[in-house]
Amino acid sequence: MSDVGVWFVGARGNIATTAIVGARAIARGETSTTGMVTERPPCDSLELPAVDELTFGGHDIRDRGLREAAAELEANGGVPASETIEAVADDLEEIDDRIASGTALNCGPRVTELADREPLEADHAVGEIVDGLREDYAAFCERQGLDRLIVINVASTEPELADPERYDAREDLERAIDEDDRDLPASSLYAYAALSEGHPYANFTPSPGSSLGGLRELAAEEDVPHMGSDGKTGESLVKAALAPMFAGRNLRVMSWEGHNVLGNTDGRVLEDERNKAGKLASKGGILDGILPDIEHNRVRIDYTPSLGDWKTAWDYVHFEGFLETQMKMQFTWEGSDSALAAPLTLDLARLLAFADREGESGLQSHLASFFKAPERVDEHDLSRQLDMLYEYVEEHADEGAEPVPEPAVDD
Ligand SMILES: NC(=O)c1ccc[n+]([C@@H]2O[C@H](COP(=O)([O-])OP(=O)(O)OC[C@H]3O[C@@H](n4cnc5c(N)ncnc54)[C@H](O)[C@@H]3O)[C@@H](O)[C@H]2O)c1
Repeated sequence: MSDVGVWFVGARGNIATTAIVGARAIARGETSTTGMVTERPPCDSLELPAVDELTFGGHDIRDRGLREAAAELEANGGVPASETIEAVADDLEEIDDRIASGTALNCGPRVTELADREPLEADHAVGEIVDGLREDYAAFCERQGLDRLIVINVASTEPELADPERYDAREDLERAIDEDDRDLPASSLYAYAALSEGHPYANFTPSPGSSLGGLRELAAEEDVPHMGSDGKTGESLVKAALAPMFAGRNLRVMSWEGHNVLGNTDGRVLEDERNKAGKLASKGGILDGILPDIEHNRVRIDYTPSLGDWKTAWDYVHFEGFLETQMKMQFTWEGSDSALAAPLTLDLARLLAFADREGESGLQSHLASFFKAPERVDEHDLSRQLDMLYEYVEEHADEGAEPVPEPAVDD
């Protein structure tokens, strides 16, 4: 496939840093591709851009270097390992020069306090911000000689947007941009700048991103593929796999309590109730989608600084079976937040590049399994969502590619 650029919004954050370190370490033969969905059957039968051919750039509101960001991750949680960071240090320095300043419009005080310099909105109208973002994308493509650019949002979670319906039509959204409507959220400006220039976009966060109706209309009209929202990586992934078991056996789940603690910058931003609201909604929505009769479905997220990038989730499931017998299930999940998320952003970039080359446009529902709240997809059962991906691969795989493996059946 032609040269593909991956543009991270939030490029100096933990997920983007881990994805870049990981991709460059894979390219240099320093680590394996474990954790990447596109590196196992059936997705590996698609003609995707190779990981070692991806060129990285991005926007951020912080100035810290990628090497410093990686070293901080290592110091606070051991991932990535210092030898891996050393092996890609030159690459990180080169990529640092391709990270531009962005906008933090309506990201809330928890996010703006991260900024090392005045964000674009300090002295630019909304239309000028959008033009600036477009110019950044264009300059990156030109300097790196790229044929295709995929924009992935891994910036901090924004507060929920009040009345998103006002941007339901493309016409209304574009008028709002022209009229300097300062209610528009940064994530949607990045998405607008990308989609209006024909760059595919994925929203790995619960922020509005490309979910506004006007942006969906734009993406469909301009034939640009996009998808979101909020990556499904830890506790929510387990829920999407486990809840169908209770449903399938007609076990009535009365209560599901989930308590997450984490110590990274994401956790610090989510301390602000306004930023946390969207995350709680997308996490809670999984169970509501699979277990519509659940009586009590609660998720908590708390910031515990000493945990660094390691997130722990305790889940308590109280359910009822035959003869009204009440039973319980409890589990503990301990994951390296960024090691779980980073490979999925590389998968999304490769699959969106493929969809773009195939001329597909609008929401890419076959990518639902990657997201907690897949846009316009009602299916939350993980294995059915994976079937959607596998069916897509089967439809698109080259002739002669390995067929999707059938599940083993005993005689
Ligand atoms: N780690 C996971 O498993 C996971 C899963 C699903 C979703 N997410 C979401 O992914 C996002 C990134 O997570 P992270 O752990 O890398 O967070 P992080 O705090 O380490 O990184 C976020 C980066 O975005 C930058 N940023 C914030 N607002 C920005 C803006 N408007 N423009 C440009 N840059 C901006 C910050 O400076 C920071 O460098 C968060 O929204 C998080 O909720 C994470």
